[in-house]
Amino acid sequence: MNMTTLFPTYNRFPFEIISGSGVTITDQTGKQYLDLTSGIGVCNLGYNVKQLNEAVTAQLGQIWHTSNLYENHLQEAVAEKLVQGEDKVVFFCNSGTEANEAALKLARKATGKTKILSFNHSFHGRSTGSLSVTGNEQIKEGFGELLSDVTFMPYNDFQSLQAITEDYAAVIVEVVQGEGGMTAGEADWLEALDTECKDKGVLLIIDEVQSGMGRTGKLFAYQHYAMDPDIVTSAKGLANGIPVGAMIGKKELASAFSAGAHGTTFGGNPLAMAAANQVLTILDDEFLEAVTQKAALFWYYLEKDLANLAVVESLSGKGLMIGIHLAPELPVGNVIQALHQEGVLTLSAHGNTLRLLPPLVIKGADLIEASQKIKQVLQMSMVHQ
Ligand SMILES: Cc1ncc(COP(=O)(O)O)c(C=O)c1O
Repeated sequence: MNMTTLFPTYNRFPFEIISGSGVTITDQTGKQYLDLTSGIGVCNLGYNVKQLNEAVTAQLGQIWHTSNLYENHLQEAVAEKLVQGEDKVVFFCNSGTEANEAALKLARKATGKTKILSFNHSFHGRSTGSLSVTGNEQIKEGFGELLSDVTFMPYNDFQSLQAITEDYAAVIVEVVQGEGGMTAGEADWLEALDTECKDKGVLLIIDEVQSGMGRTGKLFAYQHYAMDPDIVTSAKGLANGIPVGAMIGKKELASAFSAGAHGTTFGGNPLAMAAANQVLTILDDEFLEAVTQKAALFWYYLEKDLANLAVVESLSGKGLMIGIHLAPELPVGNVIQALHQEGVLTLSAHGNTLRLLPPLVIKGADLIEASQKIKQVLQMSMVHQ
């Protein structure tokens, strides 16, 4: 390892990303990579995007910070685009973790109850509250007692719904579990979950931090289903890389977050809002339809190219949020590094899963090439075992 003055919270690959353009990333040696990561689901519109650069640069020259003590027309503009005409209101913060933290606090305050139901293999963040509702025991180790009134149930399991009672303040769920293994919620189950929450007077929080902002072909993944969440959280792709988070809640919850009930110094700052406003302008129906078509193309090629490879156990996910589940004898880390050699950037997720989150602006030809390179690398890896 190189000499470092950083906490070793990340195992870093031994190269640095210096620049990006479209879906191409360049490292410090000049080597270029096809990006299938978007950061980690952040730069959904790719890199060095003219409209975003212009919007942020214009705002930079005007003002880059104001406190939340003054009116903010950019926050209003972004909020209006996020609520899509529904009777909802928005709180801006700086990350997915913060958005979930706000959601948990709001649910508790609005209902006067404290219990939260979450799911195994979920990921909602690393702060004390959001980690408490994260269904991964390994990343909780060593931190002592977290929030105690959280229950975890199996995902995509109808029996889990029986655990939802009037005692709960909220259920928090990802429509597609990302870090936990790229598992798509099944339509019937998600809709039954929504119904169960309504029947029991329990708030439904949908975490769209990874699955939102067009990733599955809708602005939010829950919009594929008959679901009506009380609270939705967003971050990652919302400002294409400028830190931002948002909690969107039904208007009837607004009084629980009255002045002084919650807050943030940086949340909703003009730079992030200028970027988010532009991102949401770009994510129109035509753009989302194109994502759906590209996703169909990519799934077609992946299913065809990987079908006969013994090391591929299955594919999972939704839209351009895809997991390739590898047999245990081929560690996903080796595959990621072999793909680096071939000039392709990919990610991992729980369960020896190769995770693909390409920028949504990627062209069909790049997706076909990506599928072929993944096939080649998996074939070579099998030979070298
Ligand atoms: C579904 C989900 N929720 C929350 C988070 C946490 O977001 P952040 O890292 O912006 O705090 C993530 C990050 O990966 C996520 O995927």
